[in-house]
Amino acid sequence: MATLAILSALLDEQRGLLEELAHPRKVKRAGRTFWCGQWHGHEVVLALTKVGKVAAATTTTAVIEAFQAQRVVFTGVAGGLSAGVKVGDVVVAREFIHHDLDSSPLFARYEIPLYGRASLPCDEGLTALLLEAAHVGLAGVGDHFHHDKLLMAPRVHAGLIASGDQFVSSAEVAVRMMCDMQTFGFAPLAVEMEGAAVAQVCRDYDVPFAALRTISDRADATAHVDFSAFVQKVASPYAFAVLSQFVQMLPKL
Ligand code: ADE
Repeated sequence: MATLAILSALLDEQRGLLEELAHPRKVKRAGRTFWCGQWHGHEVVLALTKVGKVAAATTTTAVIEAFQAQRVVFTGVAGGLSAGVKVGDVVVAREFIHHDLDSSPLFARYEIPLYGRASLPCDEGLTALLLEAAHVGLAGVGDHFHHDKLLMAPRVHAGLIASGDQFVSSAEVAVRMMCDMQTFGFAPLAVEMEGAAVAQVCRDYDVPFAALRTISDRADATAHVDFSAFVQKVASPYAFAVLSQFVQMLPKL
């Protein structure tokens, strides 16, 4: 049966998923721990990418080459860039861009050299399923967290996410990044540090990929405040609610 890889950058982002695996089996490779098992009748491998694009590319390559992952889904947190994308909202990626890639004047800014393109689209079918799972899975989530107003009614967005090797913690930097990307016709909803690398490796191997990010901050001077608490209290329960739904809806290959 086809293996689904579920990736996150940090342990806190993956919390709850490991406990769901039937017959969990631990495999060490490339300085990482991979957990293989079954979830809702699917073969699943859970792994952490660690932080940043190179680390994410290593983990993605490993799940494809060593664990024969035939579908990849990423779940984690991101900083909100677009005005309407608030802390606690969820963004499902339609495509990714490397915001720190600039080989101009040899290639257009943001273009991935020798790929002939800047944006990396996610798989349409998996993304549609993830969006549906987000709507269904998060429908009741506000009720569970009603004592904390931050956690009420998460909005679900879908669109472009920008990735780069930088934790964005300045409104000035965030605005400059946005303006630069907009000049080239890109309007990212959120920023994080792994997605474009995972998308690029999956494209290289022709493996379908989809990604979900919960907005933990607005990529400004307060971005680091309560980061871990947010991931534990909000992002991981959201990810769990959505992924559980997603895996149940996922067709068996
Ligand atoms: N992941 C979560 N918040 C982020 C930020 N502000 N910048 C980059 N990656 C993030």
